[in-house]
Amino acid sequence: KSVLLINGPNLNLLGTREPAIYGYDTLVDLENNVKTLAGSLEVSVSLFQSNHEGAIIDRIHLAQKEKIEVIIINPAALTHTSVGLRDAFNGVSIPFIELHIANVHARESFRHHSYLSDKANCVIYGMGLFGYEAALMYAAKHMGPKAK
Ligand code: DQA
Repeated sequence: KSVLLINGPNLNLLGTREPAIYGYDTLVDLENNVKTLAGSLEVSVSLFQSNHEGAIIDRIHLAQKEKIEVIIINPAALTHTSVGLRDAFNGVSIPFIELHIANVHARESFRHHSYLSDKANCVIYGMGLFGYEAALMYAAKHMGPKAK
């Protein structure tokens, strides 16, 4: 199975960015854990992080050409602002998991709305970085071709 993991704006700062909320692990730590888990699940995983909305939209379009079967995305702040990202997912019809490290519903009210959640197969929030592992396990077992 082929999975694309996208991390949106400011997630390159993981480890030093508001650690009380997002923890002390870096993006490199996170991506290494995901790669190791993907190996044991026999999933091929592509990794992408960008601070730019258009670059993320382009990556989603490319995923369709690459026949990526599942996208896991932490859209970060774009969750709450981007109709363009929503339209990109609608445009490619690739099933996706929306993931947030923190519990967005326990934070400021502007974080309670997502432009993606009603289009996502599932949404994870508040599990910390374990959410990425949970998403990958779910994608491996329950999404894409021959999904149960
Ligand atoms: C986040 C939550 C968003 O509200 C925030 O803008 C982020 C990270 C999370 O992972 O908890 O950048 O997506």
